[in-house]
Amino acid sequence: MNKENFVAKTFDGLEDILRTELEELGAENCEVISRGVQFKGDFNLLYTINYYSRLSLRILWEVKRFKFRSNEEFYKAIKGFPAENYLRKNGNLSISASLHNTIFNTPLFASLLAKDAICDRFREQSGERPSVDKENPDVRFHLHVYQHEATLFLDSSGESLHKRGYKIANHTAPINEVMAAGMIKLSGWKADCDLIDFMCGSGTILIEGAMIALNIPAGFYRDRYGFMRWLNFDKAYWEQLKEAADIRNDVLINFYGFDISARYLHMAIDNVDHAGLCDFIRLKKRDFEETSPVRTPAFVILNPPYGERLSIPDLNAFYHSIGDTLKKKYAGCTAWIISSDLDALKSIGLHPTRKITLFNGQLECKFMRFEMYQGRKHEGENDNGRTT
Ligand SMILES: C[S@@+](CC[C@H](N)C(=O)[O-])C[C@H]1O[C@@H](n2cnc3c(N)ncnc32)[C@H](O)[C@@H]1O
Repeated sequence: MNKENFVAKTFDGLEDILRTELEELGAENCEVISRGVQFKGDFNLLYTINYYSRLSLRILWEVKRFKFRSNEEFYKAIKGFPAENYLRKNGNLSISASLHNTIFNTPLFASLLAKDAICDRFREQSGERPSVDKENPDVRFHLHVYQHEATLFLDSSGESLHKRGYKIANHTAPINEVMAAGMIKLSGWKADCDLIDFMCGSGTILIEGAMIALNIPAGFYRDRYGFMRWLNFDKAYWEQLKEAADIRNDVLINFYGFDISARYLHMAIDNVDHAGLCDFIRLKKRDFEETSPVRTPAFVILNPPYGERLSIPDLNAFYHSIGDTLKKKYAGCTAWIISSDLDALKSIGLHPTRKITLFNGQLECKFMRFEMYQGRKHEGENDNGRTT
């Protein structure tokens, strides 16, 4: 099979771990770019990565790259692309564009020109042409134009891959599934000790953790991908790929989730139930101050309220009590906390042993590690005592 060029898109801050994940899945020549990784592989790799990648938001397949100097040259080059191999003449398409330093004034203009080129090719061949459907197209095209070079991609994922398909209940301030999986990977948790989220909301971090531990593919619960609507969809290969998934059921660790809100906890219960993970994830309605690990060591990964979408009267005092609880109840554990509120993070009052910058949507966040040693710290280790 020929080697094709692909781009996996992700969040700012997750590029390096995405590259490692893609290499493990068989990608070659991986190169980190802004919010993504470029790689090569045979066409079937596109299915594998859509199904298995936990850290990709979408996978783009490069179908044409060309240089142009004028609108006419651009139009002609796009018209030369055999879109009829992927799209029915009476099907639907959408085209998005991102521009950097080009002859076009707006992305809309570039997309319209490309749409005309594709539709004119169909009309000349068959008298019929596809129509535009931005919401639910059969084929999504994406154009990347940099100066005088354009790259045309087909978006193989369709809906963003963070939509895993296990969520039937949606929290007001959920963490994105790709971000949650990224946080778990960055935390260094190796699925060898319990994972706790004592502000679990709809259960995203715990479900992603359980999927990692049980080797459940990221796309296991999802039944729709962009490539399924392409004319070249290889259903037999796709079915074979899904059947080959090697899911475990013998993990000895547990996942514990708590939330003070009955409403949010019920969302977690519904999502965990829908994902078939009730045997692994234990959920209880509880104020975090009343929680403690069942056994140690354990990892705690938290996405507390930032005071943006969920309001907390005194955010600093709230974070201070997170620090208190970790120190008093979670000795022997490693905790990771993500938040966009730096003052609040300082109020935790524990010494972070690592800080990573991540973007949760538009919000710049810090993801910080705190080690709660059992008894006295060893020489050379960071102090986990109060710093304020
Ligand atoms: C940002 S949300 C977490 C969202 C979650 N990561 C998800 O993906 O759905 C923070 C959660 O903290 C919970 N919370 C607030 N105060 C709490 C407390 N004292 N004890 C336990 N949970 C609390 C809220 O009810 C909310 O569900």
